[in-house]
Amino acid sequence: MHQSLYEDENLRYVNLRTFLNDLCRHLLQSGWGAAKRVNVTVDVPDIITTADHAVPISLLVTEAVTNALKHAFTGRDSGTIHVSMVNNREGAELVVRDNGIGMDTAPRPIGTKQSGIGYSLIEGFARQLRGKVKTTSDQGTILTVSFAYIPERPTPAH
Ligand SMILES: Nc1ncnc2c1ncn2[C@@H]1O[C@H](COP(=O)(O)OP(=O)(O)OP(=O)(O)O)[C@@H](O)[C@H]1O
Ligand SMILES: [Mg+2]
Repeated sequence: MHQSLYEDENLRYVNLRTFLNDLCRHLLQSGWGAAKRVNVTVDVPDIITTADHAVPISLLVTEAVTNALKHAFTGRDSGTIHVSMVNNREGAELVVRDNGIGMDTAPRPIGTKQSGIGYSLIEGFARQLRGKVKTTSDQGTILTVSFAYIPERPTPAH
């Protein structure tokens, strides 16, 4: 994120479209699901905002996409992960969806709690955004985080 911040009138901004695209490329190269053909698509508009929104959003996306890479395609050789975001006056919504095995059928490590650290982090970042998390299963897992409109800076001319 540090590399992606740019300074403008002493405020630091990040473009969520380019930043989340870069982040997902890196996550795909992280090694999780390396033996599979996993496609990650990012459908995020130019949302130019400050680090206090970009940081929890990017950490949340990191946990959700890592979960999909780690868990969604067990027993499969390919899959798709889709990250999307909208931000308008009615509110903001971030969605991470995969077409994997779904949350309910994922194997749970024996003797451990159902939920790992990832999900409590996701809930924590959502709380930081004063948002709500919802997970549903529909031919995979859909994680939706809804929160208030993120203050945006218009795209600079240069
Ligand atoms: N996209 C997904 N598809 C299928 N199962 C999932 C998905 N995301 C999470 N899960 C299931 O939910 C469990 C909890 O996820 P969580 O991120 O909290 O823990 P973890 O990924 O197992 O470990 P950690 O995140 O602490 O490294 C996972 O172990 C997995 O079984
Ligand atoms: Mg996890």
